[in-house]
Amino acid sequence: MSKQRKMSPSSFLLLFLTIILCSFNQFVDANHLIQQTCKNCSKNDPNISYKFCTTSFQSDRRSQCAQNLEELGLLSIKITRHNVTNTCDYIKDLLKKKDKDPFIKECLNDCLDVYSDAITTFREAIRDYKAKRYEDCNFKLSSIIDASTTCEDGFKQKNDVTSPLTKRNKNVFQLSAIALSIVNMLNVDKLNDGTL
Ligand SMILES: *[C@@H]1O[C@H](CO)[C@@H](O)[C@H](O)[C@H]1NC(C)=O
Ligand SMILES: *[C@@H]1O[C@H](CO)[C@@H](O)[C@H](O)[C@H]1NC(C)=O
Ligand SMILES: *[C@@H]1O[C@H](CO)[C@@H](O)[C@H](O)[C@H]1NC(C)=O
Repeated sequence: MSKQRKMSPSSFLLLFLTIILCSFNQFVDANHLIQQTCKNCSKNDPNISYKFCTTSFQSDRRSQCAQNLEELGLLSIKITRHNVTNTCDYIKDLLKKKDKDPFIKECLNDCLDVYSDAITTFREAIRDYKAKRYEDCNFKLSSIIDASTTCEDGFKQKNDVTSPLTKRNKNVFQLSAIALSIVNMLNVDKLNDGTL
């Protein structure tokens, strides 16, 4: 959901440098990898939209350097972490505003709690991922998906209240589902390698 539709000169230069750094062939391969991966993710998990998946990878320049599923998976965790961190900051800003309804304020505080915990969880998830402990990583990413639904469900306890975080929660939900889906694919590969 990039605000600047037109590329600014500096972002164009950065993209240009990225292309040079990754070399043109790999640039093409990276997009192929993203499309293949997102196709597999959306097939394995109906909660993942193919379009959302490709867009979220392509909006991060680092994806153009990903040479295999493992690198793309790590990037997906980092993209999700960035999104969660940003959501925490957003909640803190909302909480700073005066004349908040006490119920909404309570919900926002609960969301801040679960998302702050999630930020700590990312550190462990990345450690597990790098050590190929995919089952542990799966467990941690699942708890981050839960954080997004827990946050959103809080607001549903009162009928006349609309969550100010619906869009952000949906983003975190999908992004962590993508990361989880890639981790599960890698785990299948790892298990197959072990038996073949
Ligand atoms: C996607 O799934 C197909 C068929 O299962 C497999 O051959 C391919 O390697 C997968 N691609 C990625 C990037 O995981
Ligand atoms: C899709 O999301 C729903 C709601 O959170 C969840 O219950 C379900 O398990 C998810 N499906 C998959 C395949 O993960
Ligand atoms: C969070 O992810 C969504 C989907 O990729 C994206 O539209 C949004 O800009 C991201 N927000 C941040 C702060 O990265």
